[in-house]
Amino acid sequence: MGITEPKDNDAESPARPPRRARYRGTYPQNYRDKYKEHNLEAYPEIAAHVRAKGNTPAGSHVPVMTEQVLACLHPAPGQVVIDCTVGYGGHAREFAQRIAPGGRLIALDVDRAELERTRVRLAGVPAPVSFHRCNFAGVGNVLAKEGLDGCDILFADLGVSSMQIDDPDRGMSYKHEGPLDLRMDDRLKRTGADLIESLGQDELAEALRELADEPDAEAIARAIVARRVAGRTTQTSQLVELVLAAKGLTVEGWRKQRASHPGLLHPAARTFQALRILVNDELGCLKKLLSLVPYCLRPGGRIGIISFHSGEDRLVKQSFREGVRTGLYHETCDAVLVPSREEIASNPRSASAKFRWAARKTHS
Ligand SMILES: C[S@@+](CC[C@H](N)C(=O)[O-])C[C@H]1O[C@@H](n2cnc3c(N)ncnc32)[C@H](O)[C@@H]1O
Repeated sequence: MGITEPKDNDAESPARPPRRARYRGTYPQNYRDKYKEHNLEAYPEIAAHVRAKGNTPAGSHVPVMTEQVLACLHPAPGQVVIDCTVGYGGHAREFAQRIAPGGRLIALDVDRAELERTRVRLAGVPAPVSFHRCNFAGVGNVLAKEGLDGCDILFADLGVSSMQIDDPDRGMSYKHEGPLDLRMDDRLKRTGADLIESLGQDELAEALRELADEPDAEAIARAIVARRVAGRTTQTSQLVELVLAAKGLTVEGWRKQRASHPGLLHPAARTFQALRILVNDELGCLKKLLSLVPYCLRPGGRIGIISFHSGEDRLVKQSFREGVRTGLYHETCDAVLVPSREEIASNPRSASAKFRWAARKTHS
């Protein structure tokens, strides 16, 4: 019997790899087209190449301040660790390697798609990991579901992952054209577009001031409300144009400014940050977590939190100091810890990170 060529629709034939995306130029520019960066396990040389240029490969996240986190929380064999914000799993992997044998890692995240990818990515770590698609404000319920009285380490690395910020479909960045969504958790009812349609001018101005220290908060809030007569603001580029106009800039004018001062913060960066914090109620969730933590830690247990925004860091600092004063915590860090110059140079996204920790008494 002769050998026959397998056909495309032959159920027995192996699946063909998907056709590579077509793009102009030597390297793909669009997030979706960067197929090698989305598959670093198969193309490990790409990670080094992209990171050497000070960038984060698409679809990945570089964990920040890992050495300081491990040195202050000192995970050890047999411990139970809760990573409240597992993200890409960078910190989680380090914890898992240190708590085996006998330890357990419990991983939380609100992002359904990324949690599934991370479940696959962490499949081979030496400690058992259970994943919960859950807001960390509900960490008490997770402990109950796991049948645990508490944990030895609770860790949170607040804010968004690089995957979320770089994916144009999530609308988190002024850099990419996309829908003005900004939700980390797609079960949330209100998107960024819904929010800027419904909030009053004063509420918007206050959010811009309080959540992002935006100096032109009033002018931007006024421009957002005034634009409503022309229809909904649904795209990231519409919001960028609106903010530029409120600051008396044009796209071209901003390009020229940036060319002469490359380090300048984008005029819309603070507006996107404030909106994201509002959409995801980031400060409300953090307050809830901080109120629960002392009751989730076993005697001697440690909490560590990385924040990226002065409002968050203030909440963490106050909660830990108040906890020491009232006896909920035994000790806390004397001063905030920040990334080294070397870390910031190799991962510019770590620049605004701030880490604080606190510990419960060994005996209650
Ligand atoms: C900065 S990333 C964490 C990165 C992670 N440490 C790593 O090494 O890959 C923050 C993650 O926290 C998640 N997140 C933010 N707020 C959350 C909340 N309230 N509850 C649970 N997850 C949250 C985001 O979806 C995101 O995946």
